[in-house]
Amino acid sequence: MILLVNGPNLNLLGEREPDVYGATTLHDIERMVTEACAAYGREVRAFQSNHEGAVIDFIQENRKDARGLIVNPGALTHTSYALHDCLKSISFPVVEVHISNVHAREEWRRQDLIAPATRGQVVGLGPAGYYYAAVWLCTQVTDPVLGEYDADGGPVEVDPDDVATDETPPPIGGDYEG
Ligand code: DQA
Repeated sequence: MILLVNGPNLNLLGEREPDVYGATTLHDIERMVTEACAAYGREVRAFQSNHEGAVIDFIQENRKDARGLIVNPGALTHTSYALHDCLKSISFPVVEVHISNVHAREEWRRQDLIAPATRGQVVGLGPAGYYYAAVWLCTQVTDPVLGEYDADGGPVEVDPDDVATDETPPPIGGDYEG
């Protein structure tokens, strides 16, 4: 089971600063991630809250069932030592997602207290970032070719013949608006 957690103000996606965050709603994103994970036989448990403690409670409560976490902490990214500590205390991989490129915006958004407690980040690629995070986490736990990624984040050698396929790949992120 994969956890999908969104922090403050992400419930307003679609109407919130559409020039920055686009027209995609949180419901669209939850559906996209659910469908992406279903293709790998993984369920998704999604949660959004505007409250720091509620986000931490949800992650803690689901920590025994989860195999991975996709988290967009919203502005908690820039302020929350408590969420950092929470992510450090869980054993499954965490991928941090930001819809916008936080490095190309206000200076204060460049401070990311969460990143050091994650395996990686997808930043600035719009809602498709959640899709990439989902696929990465699912291939971690289920891919017969890639197998488990090296715990130190080291490269995994893959023979292209092992993964070649005649099928046309589906559009990345499906038809979700960015
Ligand atoms: C965000 C970026 C944060 O700086 C901001 O506070 C958000 C959204 C993003 O997805 O781009 O709420 O996490």
